[in-house]
Formats: sequence, structure tokens, C-alpha cells
Amino acid sequence: MLNIAVIGGDGTGPEVVAEGLKVLKAAAAKTNIEYKLTNFDINGDRYLARGGDPTRMTIPVVDDEEVQKLKKFDAIYLGAVGHPKIAPGIIEKNMLLRLRFELDQYINLRPVRLYPGVETPLKDKKPEDIDFVVVRENTEGLYSGSGGFQYKGTPQEVSTQLNVTTRFGAERAIRYAFELTRRRNSPKKQLTLVHKTNVLTFAGDTWWRAFNEIGDKEFPDIKRDYNHVDAACMWFVKNPEFYDVIVTDNIFGDIITDLAAVIQGGLGVAAGGNINPKSVSMYEPMGGSAPKYTGQNIINPIAAIAAMGMLLRETGTHKADKKLVDAGTRIETAITTVTPKMKSQAAGKMGFSTTQIGDLVAAAIAAS
Ligand code: IPM
Ligand code: MN
Repeated sequence: MLNIAVIGGDGTGPEVVAEGLKVLKAAAAKTNIEYKLTNFDINGDRYLARGGDPTRMTIPVVDDEEVQKLKKFDAIYLGAVGHPKIAPGIIEKNMLLRLRFELDQYINLRPVRLYPGVETPLKDKKPEDIDFVVVRENTEGLYSGSGGFQYKGTPQEVSTQLNVTTRFGAERAIRYAFELTRRRNSPKKQLTLVHKTNVLTFAGDTWWRAFNEIGDKEFPDIKRDYNHVDAACMWFVKNPEFYDVIVTDNIFGDIITDLAAVIQGGLGVAAGGNINPKSVSMYEPMGGSAPKYTGQNIINPIAAIAAMGMLLRETGTHKADKKLVDAGTRIETAITTVTPKMKSQAAGKMGFSTTQIGDLVAAAIAAS
């Protein structure tokens, strides 16, 4: 029995999650998977309804008991976070980032794949040219929250924001990325480290040595490559076909995966996973809560459906359960039969409604 916690979240989150669950139902029927869904009412509306201050966090966004409960599931399926009436950062930090840290989801996994029929802003690039994975370290670096103010509010104000990099954190991300490169088994079999070793000569050096030592000792079959992060941005646009798997630190990963989302057709199609390979991972569409589209049945659910595919495939991989991997792969394949029928990946311009896209993917799975 696969136990999934569902957090619809804010805005259009619940709408796209409903389509992901529709597709899960179809994939589970096809592959004989039993599953149980448990809803968690964690979102900005609840925070406000409980009397939370919209300008600063005054009450918890996620209750401690909820965090403890979430730790017991096989996976978490998340819609979107961000509420137009709540100051930016409150829900993001106290829900998304809190769960990443407390569940020790130390990998942010972002497959970057141009589905057939999807428009990319890159001239002449085809689905076979844009197919790589970014492994972003997800619990350290500039996201650690270390730092502070001195003389705040005076002309002498000082703020520091520390890039906390541990050998342990870099190693576990690097090892995960090498293993993934081996599993993907693409003809390139290549892992690229992205950092800024020419300027960040301390943190960058920890990553660099860990990357090479682990590669030499444990993964001699994988080709190693290195890009400075600024150069990687250039190559993403010019030669995306060069990449197989990329491993990088938290903030660089945050930035380059948005660039990657654009070249794969936008936030309507980009899915990601916050992964703890030995515990509970959380899968989500990368797009935000898109408040202006809420309740209109026009938001693109492909990213959320792809996130469900990832949930099944990754959970199956971590638990060595072939049925789950099969179900996830069926979802991914079904998506590739639906995207060519869509006029666009932009909300309101798809040629179909949100629920119709879910129906099409579910039907493609049933027919597979
Ligand atoms: C992401 C998001 C988050 C991040 C925000 C919402 C805190 O941009 O998942 O990439 O910066 O990690
Ligand atoms: Mn981001």
C-alpha cells in the first residue's frame, strides 16, 4: 500500500493536484497498485483564517504535529505555495523550506525534458536536444539561514548571509548525482559539476575535491565535467544537448533550474522532487500558485502530472518496487502523447481546459 500525503496548497495548487490524482488513479488501475491518499489542509488561507499576520509570521504555517505526521508517509504530493495577501517568504520559508529541512530532503531533483510538440524559445532545438537532469543540493549553502544583521536600520547596517557548505552535504548530493548518471545510462554518461570555483575558492574547493575524489574512487565509469555557473547559463541556451546530469549547490541550482524550465517550455511543464532517498520525499510542479488563474479551469496541469510520474518512479526506485517505476514511466509516456495535441503550454491557451488535459493523459494511460 502506497501512502501519499496530499497538500493542495494555495491558488491553483489544488486544481492541478486533482489532475495528478486523476492520472494516478488511471496508472494504479493499469499496474495494480494500491494507494491511500491523506489530505493536509496546509495553505495561506488557513494561516489567515487562524489569525496569522500577513506581514510577518505570528503563528505556525505548518503545525509541529503535521510535520511529525508527514514523516510517516511514503511520499508527499504538493500543489503550490504562495498567497497574494501574505508577504512573500512567509509561506515559502515556513512551509516549503521548513519541510525540506525537517524531512532532510537533501536533493532537489529537476528533470529538464522538452516534451514533443512543446514550444521552446531556443531556435531549432528538438526534444532530443533538451533532455538532462539537474541535481540541486537542497538543505545547505545560502539557504541555511545563517547570518544576521548588525546596526540594522542605521547607515552602518551590516548584513551577512552565510554560504554554509559541508563536506557531508556536498558528498551526499554528489554521490546521488553519480548514481543517477549511472542509472540513466545515457550514451553521454556524464556528470557536470556546476559551481563558481574561481571566486568561491572555499566552498567551491570543497565541492571540487569531493566531486573528483568520489568520481575517481567510486564512479570511474562516469565522465566528469565542470562548468562555472555563469558559463552554464550560456551553455543551457547555446548547447543544451551537451548535458546529461548536473550537480550543483543550493542557490546556483535554484537559479539555473528556472532557466532550464524556460527552455523546456515553461513552468507549465516543469516538475521537481525534494528527495530524501531513505525517507519521505515531496514532489511538486515548479510553477507557483498563479492566483489570477485560480478556479477558472485554465491552468496547465502537465507539470503536476509529471510530478506524480516522478513520485511513482522515484519512490519505486528507492523502494526497489518495479510496479511503481512502471506506473511512473507510463505517466511520463502518456504525457508525450498529449503534449503534441496542445496548442500551447500557457494557461488559457492550451486549446483544452485543465480537467480536459487530465482526462487526456488518463485516457492515454488506460489505452497503454
Ligand atoms: C524553488 C523555489 C523555492 C526555492 C522558493 C519558493 C523558496 O524557488 O523550489 O526553486 O528558492 O527553493
Ligand atoms: Mn526556484
